[in-house]
Amino acid sequence: EGAPPPPRQNWSFSGIFGTFDRAQLQRGFKVYREVCQSCHQLDIPFRTLSQPGGPQFSTAQVAALAAEYKIQDGPNDAGDMFERPGRPADKFPWTFPNAQAAAAANGGKAPPPLQLMAKARSYERGFPWWIIDTLPGFVYQEHGPDYLHALMVGYEPAPAGFTVPQGGHYNKYFPGHIIAMPKPIADGQVEYPKGPDGKSPVPETIDQYAKDLAAFLMWTAEPTLEQRKRTGFMVMIFLAVFAYGMYYTKKKIWSGLH
Ligand code: HEM
Repeated sequence: EGAPPPPRQNWSFSGIFGTFDRAQLQRGFKVYREVCQSCHQLDIPFRTLSQPGGPQFSTAQVAALAAEYKIQDGPNDAGDMFERPGRPADKFPWTFPNAQAAAAANGGKAPPPLQLMAKARSYERGFPWWIIDTLPGFVYQEHGPDYLHALMVGYEPAPAGFTVPQGGHYNKYFPGHIIAMPKPIADGQVEYPKGPDGKSPVPETIDQYAKDLAAFLMWTAEPTLEQRKRTGFMVMIFLAVFAYGMYYTKKKIWSGLH
C-alpha cells in the first residue's frame, strides 16, 4: 500500500542451519527494555529468557530481572489485591492497565503487543518473487524481521507535498506512511556491553539497534526456531534414506515379473 518493500537483511537465523546469535538476542532485549517497553507489551514469561535456543541468560540473572518488576497479584486472604516483586514464572507486566488506556495515552492508537510481531508482519515482493520465495532451497521466512528493521530506520522527513496529520509521523516503510508511533530510537541511545578493548563490538546506531531488536522479536515469536530447523533437517535425512530403501524393496519384490 504505497510503501516500498523493506530491504533484505542477513539474519543469522535464516536458512536450513540458521541459529540465533545469543549476544544479539541479549542486546535486542536490552534495547526493548530501555526503549520499547515504556509503551509496548511483551506477553512472554521471564523464565523463557533462560531457556535453550534463546538469549540464554542464567536463571539467576532472570530471577534478578523478574524481581525488578512489580506484579499485580491477589486477592489475598483479606480479599485485597496487592503488588509483589516479579518471579521467573510471571509475564512481563504492561505499563498500561488495558488497551483503552494505552490508546488514550498515544493519541488514539494503542501500541500493539510485540511478542508475535515478527510473524504477524510481512510484505509482498510481487510476481514472480512470491512464488520463488516459497520454493524449496529458496524459502525465505524473514520478511517479518526485515520489516521490523525497516520500520525502525524508516523515519524520515515527509516528501514535499505530503501532509502529515496531527499526531502522525512519516515513515517510509509503514503502509500508508503515517504512523502514530514517534521515532522511538536514536543513535547512541542504548549502551551496549563493552568488549575487552573497552568498546562495544558492534556499533551503537539505529541500524544496529533495529537489527538486534528484530532478531530478539523473532525469537519471542518463534522461541523453538532452532529446534524446528534441527528436527526438520533430521526428518529430511530420514525421508531420503527411507525413500531409497522403499525403492529398492519394491524393485526386489517385483523383480520376478518381467
Ligand atoms: C506500533 C515497534 C517503541 C508507540 C508499533 C509497531 C511496531 C513497533 C513493530 C507496529 C507497526 C505496524 O503496525 O506494522 C516498536 C519498537 C520500539 C517501539 C521495536 C522500540 C524501539 C515505541 C514507543 C512508543 C510506541 C516508545 C510510545 C511512545 C507505538 C504506537 C503504535 C506502535 C502508538 C501504533 C502505531 C499505529 O498503528 O499507527 N511499534 N515500538 N512504540 N508503537 Fe511502537
